Amino acid sequence: MQPVRKVVFPVNGLGTRFLPATKAMPKEMLPIVDKPLIQYAVEEAVAAGVKELIFVTGRNKRAIEDHFDAHPELERDLRTKGKFDLLEAVQNILPRDVRCIYIRQPEPLGLGHAVLCAEPAVGNSPFAVMLADDLIDAEHSAIGQLIEARRAAGGGSVIAVQDVAPEDTKKYGIVSVDDAAQATSRLRGIVEKPDPSVAPSRLAVIGRYVFEPEIFRYLAEVKPGVGGEIQLTDAIEASLEDVPSYAHRYSGTRFDCGSKQGFIDATVHYARKRGFRID
Ligand code: G1P
Repeated sequence: MQPVRKVVFPVNGLGTRFLPATKAMPKEMLPIVDKPLIQYAVEEAVAAGVKELIFVTGRNKRAIEDHFDAHPELERDLRTKGKFDLLEAVQNILPRDVRCIYIRQPEPLGLGHAVLCAEPAVGNSPFAVMLADDLIDAEHSAIGQLIEARRAAGGGSVIAVQDVAPEDTKKYGIVSVDDAAQATSRLRGIVEKPDPSVAPSRLAVIGRYVFEPEIFRYLAEVKPGVGGEIQLTDAIEASLEDVPSYAHRYSGTRFDCGSKQGFIDATVHYARKRGFRID
């Protein structure tokens, strides 16, 4: 079985919920304490043994490319001034054996479409997908937990899930599984943002996925779904008969940094962890 060495980061969202902060800056660059959101996700992927980071970007996202690139002038300046801790912080953003690839998504046609845009870089390999908005503080890398669940299952798709309040089913992909009490359970159905009255469960998809390359075939075929967008959820549903798929309850604390409240909760959590005073 081929190991997971590639991850796709769809980063083409407009970030409208954080306007005006995100008018000229990608929402993925908003900092939690002193690190941009996207860097937390990248560190989680690197901790899981990922070697290739594939960013699906668009207009206004240049800052992400600059962030993960070397900055010789800044490094020289920090060295000359003897600011070696800061020098280390900017030089160690990525280990040397990790490579970044940037692909543009010409139009924001949905999460499924963004993942499909990464196909030329992913090729015929298993890969992970991570949504940086979902920030997960975990002792063991959350995406690493999914990769391990795939290994234990002998391959297939693995999707991160957690319980949500009944009224919140309309914010998430919602799954039905064989045995919701298990940490890893066979996935039998998945539906995007159902109304609580028709939701198959309260088990919601969180932005961490591991896929076999077969998912691209389904992504290329699905029709626009909820919100008129090409939904990753619909491609997963279409693949269930052919690709063994699992829902995995990861362990860790997740913050919905796509919302202001979640972003503030994450800031308070990481600030406390770093020893800052919160009154
Ligand atoms: C996306 C997915 C959804 C998933 C969610 C997790 O929705 O479409 O299935 O539950 O991420 O954060 P979005 O939050 O982009 O609307």
